[in-house]
Amino acid sequence: MNLEAVLNYRRSVRNYQTDNNLDTEKVKHCLEMATLAPNSSNMQLWEFYHITDKELIQKMAHASLSQNAVGTANQLVVFVTRRDLFRSRAKKILEYNRENIKRNSPTDSHARRIKKSETYYGTLMPLVYARFFGLLGLFRKIVTVSVSLFRPMITDVSECDQRVVVHKSCALAAQTFMIAMANESYDTCAVEGLDSRRVKRLLHLPSGAEVNMIISCGIRKGNNAVHGERYRVPFDEVYKNI
Ligand SMILES: Cc1cc2nc3c(=O)[nH]c(=O)nc-3n(C[C@H](O)[C@H](O)[C@H](O)COP(=O)(O)O)c2cc1C
Repeated sequence: MNLEAVLNYRRSVRNYQTDNNLDTEKVKHCLEMATLAPNSSNMQLWEFYHITDKELIQKMAHASLSQNAVGTANQLVVFVTRRDLFRSRAKKILEYNRENIKRNSPTDSHARRIKKSETYYGTLMPLVYARFFGLLGLFRKIVTVSVSLFRPMITDVSECDQRVVVHKSCALAAQTFMIAMANESYDTCAVEGLDSRRVKRLLHLPSGAEVNMIISCGIRKGNNAVHGERYRVPFDEVYKNI
């Protein structure tokens, strides 16, 4: 399949064949492809919980309001955001960047580029992601809005805004995964209709982790696997050529 065929093939499947197992290694490989998704500041504040255990799938189905898309799935992947890992991720990227710059940039620019990366990942990222009961976010908001009165400035920096940031990036990984799965002729359904507290408990996630979505996986069963023909609002309504 070419890309257009893959995108047309991908549908939200809510009824999977129960006697047809997916190749776990192939699904895992699709998750490796998912890590190639673009993401904010390359912080990669995500984790993927690949569930193949039938009993746990049924528990997840219960936590997902008994949706068929989860209950009939052969495997599940829970996409999780990890805003709380910002320090360790920033540290790793910085370590990588130092060597990357030495390998790939002109020698006379090494010091300047490394300094820039140190400022970004060593100072800015910890400043942007740090949390303290909403107060640090409020402080960032006041400072950035004040600066924006005089020059363009990112002002969506509250602690709540940072949640949006990590969920956006995680959703891009989820979509990349679904496309990779469709390329294997494997089916998926994104699921956000779930009790996130129950899902977190089942996965023993720490309080700083958040459930982005569950992607159920399997092979479509029969004609009612998808909800009829695909509907999209007319393209003219959403396409604005400026
Ligand atoms: C973030 C997200 C959450 C979704 N949650 C659910 C869900 O809880 N249950 C469900 O049956 N479908 C869910 N869907 C699937 C959408 O209903 C589906 O993508 C949409 O109807 C378009 O159909 P298509 O995926 O076949 O193109 C979700 C999709 C996304 C992207």
